[in-house]
Amino acid sequence: MASNTKSNGSAAPAINGAAYPITDHSYDVIVVGAGGAGLRATVGCSKAGLRTACISKVFPTRSHTVAAQGGVAASLANMGPDNWKWHMYDTVKGSDWLGDQDSIEYLCRNAPAAVYELEHWGVPFSRTEDGRIYQRPFGGMTTEFGNGPPALRTCAAADRTGHAMLHTLYGQALRHETEFFIEYFAIDIIMEDGRCRGVVCLKLDDGTIHRFRAQLVILATGGYGRAYFSATSAHTCTGDGNAMVLRAGLPLQDMEFVQFHPTGIYGAGCLITEGSRGEGGYLTNSEGERFMERYAPSVKDLAPRDIVSRSMTVEIREGRGVGKGKDHIHLHLEHLDPKVLHERLPGISESAKIFAGVDVTKAPIPVIPTAHYNMGGIPTNFHGEVVIKKGRNPDQVVPGLMAIGEAACVSVHGANRLGSNSLIDLVVFGRAAGLRAAELVTAGAKQAELPASSADLALSRLDGFRHAKGDISTAELRLRMQTVMQNNCAVYRTGATLDEGSKLIQEVWSAKDRISVTDRSLIWNSDLVETLEFDNLIVQAVVTMIGAANRTESRGAHAREDYPERDDVKWMKHTLASIDANARTVAIDYRPVHSQTMTNEMHSIEPKKRVY
Ligand code: FUM
Repeated sequence: MASNTKSNGSAAPAINGAAYPITDHSYDVIVVGAGGAGLRATVGCSKAGLRTACISKVFPTRSHTVAAQGGVAASLANMGPDNWKWHMYDTVKGSDWLGDQDSIEYLCRNAPAAVYELEHWGVPFSRTEDGRIYQRPFGGMTTEFGNGPPALRTCAAADRTGHAMLHTLYGQALRHETEFFIEYFAIDIIMEDGRCRGVVCLKLDDGTIHRFRAQLVILATGGYGRAYFSATSAHTCTGDGNAMVLRAGLPLQDMEFVQFHPTGIYGAGCLITEGSRGEGGYLTNSEGERFMERYAPSVKDLAPRDIVSRSMTVEIREGRGVGKGKDHIHLHLEHLDPKVLHERLPGISESAKIFAGVDVTKAPIPVIPTAHYNMGGIPTNFHGEVVIKKGRNPDQVVPGLMAIGEAACVSVHGANRLGSNSLIDLVVFGRAAGLRAAELVTAGAKQAELPASSADLALSRLDGFRHAKGDISTAELRLRMQTVMQNNCAVYRTGATLDEGSKLIQEVWSAKDRISVTDRSLIWNSDLVETLEFDNLIVQAVVTMIGAANRTESRGAHAREDYPERDDVKWMKHTLASIDANARTVAIDYRPVHSQTMTNEMHSIEPKKRVY
């Protein structure tokens, strides 16, 4: 819109002699990222009458939410007894007591309304015989505060729930006055005196630079699965917002907690939904044994992901893996009614055929735990506001900055997320951010000019990579990083693997000075963009490894063989990791877990041993 944009190039800073004309834009709110969380926040802000721009490096319906399969958790009680307090209990227990209980209460209380809203907006959920939203069991979701049978809580659109949600949310966003800036790569946020004032972007199709000014910036940039060699994440999952936050001198929280999904297709990494076990699928080892019965006698294959992934890893290590190399596990669906496979699991039936050559009606799928989700991210409160520890206040709000979705650590997932709690996190906290934005932001309020130099740091970083003339390609460095993360910071860790990993990953970080970019263009330069993405990934990889090396206990997805027990006395606290990007150093601090609930309708859930 003309009133929001000065397209004549308001400044043309010369960085190392190169001119970078800038197009300026001004909005009330900028949302960076157009996945489920970003789109839900965008809808909320636009509906509140705020001039809102949504910036995305990919076309919105290609955001990674599209790949979410099994469903979205909410205690609708459509197919059996359920209520939000049981959901809350399961989520706290699933988080291995690292989740913030006020945020978890907010999530579980608001989940049913968020799902009904999606239904009313048009998400084509699968249906029960009597026309209600179909719900399936998922790992760690139980009834009666863990004492009852598995809960039927995960609302599904076959096994393409994320696809259905994302397309519906994009449609809703288009109904409002939102402006989309599609295929704009956000390079860095602009901070001034501790406040976030905007973001600097590269427009990928013409190489122009855009500076967005806003009263509020909401980061919804997703996770950084691509720091690992084998991940269910898309190539675009590079955690760009997380890295911007680190470069701005702010910390990330709980980065050592990386979820390995038990059923990635062996060799390909593609996701086979946990919903397949919800529909009756099961895992076996080379002896044909349903080994989960030993590890989780009551819920078996529907144990939470950390427990299933650990169990599979133990089976493989002890020589009971399947296949020539005895290095994976079988997932059986061939006993299921073909009608169930066709109606409820069509997507994974197709993926198994394409990526493993398996007809699921006849043979088991080869699977292996695969990096899937980041519990850690940008620390926020349950309104989505970014918080930092300042003096005695562990929850000081950073003005002008919010984070939601996988980019954020709110922290509802703690040390281990329950399957289907991420899609609900996206919409509940996307909505919360919109509500908070409506309170904090005055539509059309005059904003101070940005300092003339406000884009300089971002542009000199861009320019540095654009002209990088080293001797190592980005692809080679990225592979080194991914290999170190996969070998040294996976399902099981030890002091030795993590110390070695810390050394190796720091070496990769240092080697970025030797990077070579051969294409100097700014237009559709995938070498340059992948280098910026690598630069984002490597800082997250470093803080993940160092956070893991420092945490001398086992909790959720952080399983230390040398410290096999959870240690609530010493370690019931969140890790805060920040970097000095110039000195290439990491600083670690901690902040307390919120063990208190949001209201007194639900008491705090006291820690105990996690048994399933
Ligand atoms: O297994 C799945 O369908 C993944 C769901 C999730 O990560 O929440």
